[in-house]
Amino acid sequence: MKILVLHGPNLNLLGTRETSIYGTTTLDTINERLQVLADMLGFELETQQSNHEGVLIDALHATDAAVVVLNAGAFTHYSYAIRDAIAAIKKPVVEVHLSNIHARPEEWRHHSVIADVCVGSIAGFGALSYELGMRAALDLAG
Ligand code: DQA
Repeated sequence: MKILVLHGPNLNLLGTRETSIYGTTTLDTINERLQVLADMLGFELETQQSNHEGVLIDALHATDAAVVVLNAGAFTHYSYAIRDAIAAIKKPVVEVHLSNIHARPEEWRHHSVIADVCVGSIAGFGALSYELGMRAALDLAG
C-alpha cells in the first residue's frame, strides 16, 4: 500500500521561510520523519514537491497511491483546477497545513477551495500536521 505526500508552492523553503509561522524544520526533515513512520508501519511512501499548479495536478492524476496527503500551499485558497483534480481522481485526499489557516490574520487564508473535496483537514500543528495526516491516510487505506 502506498501513500503520496504532495507538497505545494514555497514549501521547498521550509526551514528558512517565515519561521515564526512555519517553524524551522526543513522539508527534507519532514520527509525523512514520514519515511521513518512508513518504515515502522510498513507502507510505501512517495513524496513530491512542486511550485507549479500543473505539476501538482499531473501528480494527482498519475499517482498509483491509495491515498494522498496534500499541502497545496497558497493554491488551497484559489485553485479550482486543483480542486477539480481532487474531485476527478476519486481517491481519498487528506488536506494538511502547518499553520492554522483559520487563525491567520489574512482573511483570504480562512477559506479552502479544496476542503469540500478532501476527506478532512489537519491544520495548525506544524510539521506534526503531516504525521497526523499520514495517520489519517493509513486509516483510510484500511
Ligand atoms: C500553508 C498555508 C497557506 O496559506 C500558505 O500559503 C502556505 C502554507 C500551511 O502549510 O500552513 O504556503 O499551506
